[in-house]
Amino acid sequence: MNIGTFDSGLGGLLITKSLISAMPEYNFCYLGDTLHVPYGARSKDVVFDFTKNCIEYLFEKKDCKLIIIACNTATFAALRRLQQTYLPQKYPDRRILGVIVPTVEEVIEKKYTSVGLLATQGTVNSDVYGIELKKRKPEIKLYSCPAPLLVPLVENNADEFAPPIIESYIKNFIDKDIEAIILGCTHYPHYKKQIAEISKKILGRNIDILSQDEFLPASLKDYLSRHPEIDNCLSKNSKYSFEITDINDAYIQQARAIFGKDIIIQKVDI
Ligand code: DGL
Repeated sequence: MNIGTFDSGLGGLLITKSLISAMPEYNFCYLGDTLHVPYGARSKDVVFDFTKNCIEYLFEKKDCKLIIIACNTATFAALRRLQQTYLPQKYPDRRILGVIVPTVEEVIEKKYTSVGLLATQGTVNSDVYGIELKKRKPEIKLYSCPAPLLVPLVENNADEFAPPIIESYIKNFIDKDIEAIILGCTHYPHYKKQIAEISKKILGRNIDILSQDEFLPASLKDYLSRHPEIDNCLSKNSKYSFEITDINDAYIQQARAIFGKDIIIQKVDI
């Protein structure tokens, strides 16, 4: 059986790439819902429905035992409900994981006392990061800033327009004592270097950038070592598939650019 990774669009490809480099022996099936991207400003119920359909596809058609929702917005809008109601009824022996708890654990592990968050409007409005941090370490200060325009830039291969937009977002952290910025959307690691440089310029000091592609592989390996009943069901013959729900030449090119090498990406109907 396979590991599924799912995102609203192409951002999750970066996470998938880092998972594949860290665990190349496993089989990965990536699905990006490019037909419906962006999810960031949609209602929670709509994001839940889109996510559930994609998860169902990965379980039914791609033989996934475990799915990583490599999307913060879909994680906050759908993960808990899927884990509590859908999985027990339909697939009690399969698992779905998200990206928010591993990120919060990373903040705690690194002993930050004050952090900034860039995320979609939906993720920021939900305060899911604030809620999860408070459960574990209420004294950590969190300053959140919605950064929705970075998503279409990534999806449309429009990197040249990113710097002024990143600047305007980072300006929200002036006068805040943050030590790190959480990239709370899986599209943003695409601009990791620019975000680090622009933060240094605007805030006048080095700011750590917490990028989910860097720590999710360790978190997944840790999960599998604690759950041999899942790991033992996973095939290890290095097969990877990449699928999206809408396709055009620009998506194909951008998927290759994000992944860093040629990949075969196919359209699927869900
Ligand atoms: N990549 C998604 C996330 O991590 C959101 C992008 C979108 O708005 O669809 O939140």
